[in-house]
Amino acid sequence: MPGTDLRPTKRMGRGSAYGKIILLGEHAVVHGRPALGAALSEGVSAFAMRSGRADSQLSVPSWGLQVRAEGARQSDRAFGALLQALNVRNERIDIVGEPQIPAGAGLGASAALAVAVARAVADLCASSLTPAEASAAAFASETLLHGRASGLDNELAARGGVLLFQRDQPLRAVRASTTFRFIIGDSGSKGATLETVQKVAALHRGRRAEVEQRFDEIAGLVEAGTGALVRGERAELGELMTENHAILRWLDVSNFTLDKMVDAALEAGALGAKLTGGGGGGSVIALVDGEGTSVAEAWGAAGHTCLTTEIRGSGLNILPS
Ligand code: MEV
Repeated sequence: MPGTDLRPTKRMGRGSAYGKIILLGEHAVVHGRPALGAALSEGVSAFAMRSGRADSQLSVPSWGLQVRAEGARQSDRAFGALLQALNVRNERIDIVGEPQIPAGAGLGASAALAVAVARAVADLCASSLTPAEASAAAFASETLLHGRASGLDNELAARGGVLLFQRDQPLRAVRASTTFRFIIGDSGSKGATLETVQKVAALHRGRRAEVEQRFDEIAGLVEAGTGALVRGERAELGELMTENHAILRWLDVSNFTLDKMVDAALEAGALGAKLTGGGGGGSVIALVDGEGTSVAEAWGAAGHTCLTTEIRGSGLNILPS
């Protein structure tokens, strides 16, 4: 990493990174299975400045987040680990994050913030990071925040596009041969990735053979879903997503509201629906045929805010509402 001799030299550094949705494979990916994710066209921007304070600070006013590199909370330690990974732990830097995505909605906000901060700090030092370097630095903070992280979120945040990810395997960029439209609905309660990752790990310890079998089933869905995306088979990908949600329910990372949203989306004509990300709250994604207005209306009537996104080729664009 060029971080070995990073020193702040500029007045201000800037960086940005993408949010994401996971189409298939969350949780199983933490246990070595593949997952298919797509970066959102928006995410988080960060601005870094030299500071006269006693330690480095990061604030994200719109999330009500303020962390200190020398603080004792988990979020403080995650920020400290990110600066350590960049070799600027001894510098005094103030960073402000400006997100375009909500926190705790299962949209990869923490990874996008970490990658944006890493890039802003490198830029402040008149340097730049490759996607692999930015992703690796963010992984240090993601691991602290989630207890155990697969690395998928930071890869999507740093690289963008649609990725087939599996730990210790080469990343594969996936290109869709037709348009896939997803409605993302916010359940209204924050996701709890740390808790759900721990819950799945405990279930895995207690009922290893059964849970391994579920992970293998998810791996099969990911493989089939990647093929469906490449061939442009919307109905097939939708069915695989709904099957994936059923397994996530079995793993006990869904909740009443997320299940209700999945049912409402299917009743409104979605091709498939599932929770996305860590679960325990956060968002549901529905793959739709056509505009998807009926899904957005059904969720909107229940008080859920929605985003419309589309994969065209290799990126996931958020469409104006
Ligand atoms: C979180 O967005 C996805 C999880 O699979 C955790 C991870 O991959 O690190 C639940």
